[in-house]
Amino acid sequence: MSERTAVCPGSYDPVTNGHLDIIGRAANVFDRVVVGVVGNQFRKQPPLFTPEERKVFLEDATADLGNVEVEIFRELLVEFARSKGATAVVKGLRAISDFEFEFEMAQLNRLLDASVESIYIIASPAYSFLSSTGVKEMATFGGDVSELVPAPVAAALTERLSDR
Ligand code: PNS
Repeated sequence: MSERTAVCPGSYDPVTNGHLDIIGRAANVFDRVVVGVVGNQFRKQPPLFTPEERKVFLEDATADLGNVEVEIFRELLVEFARSKGATAVVKGLRAISDFEFEFEMAQLNRLLDASVESIYIIASPAYSFLSSTGVKEMATFGGDVSELVPAPVAAALTERLSDR
């Protein structure tokens, strides 16, 4: 059977332990996982970290996973998936509140290319509340985020947000 590749796309601004839970679980199910860091966000605030910085955080945090690679993408997600030979897009679902956005994304992506399947992994309970936005807010006001993100990310958040 041919190699099964999935893309795990996201803003990852920055990567959290919740993202890493989903990426790791996707890597258990697929032969190869390409983490796609979006380089040109459309619906969100300007990011705190550059795509290159976000990519390095992810590479560092997934270095122990032999079948995971990280790339920045600036095209449509389905085009990125096709260029990687991926048959699936895998994302995490935390709560009902995620559903509406993910439902729209999955339907738009299906319209663009029905051969790329959207697959959702339910977040582990320990991470069901965790978001990059929440982590950034905590760090902005001096909260300890060391249990929520990899150590280099926690350090970078402190440094980046300390002058705000
Ligand atoms: O972590 P996020 O912010 O939920 O990730 C959103 C992401 C990157 C998956 C989404 O914005 C995306 O796919 N962007 C690329 C453009 C695209 O293909 N959009 C969906 C169809 S219009």
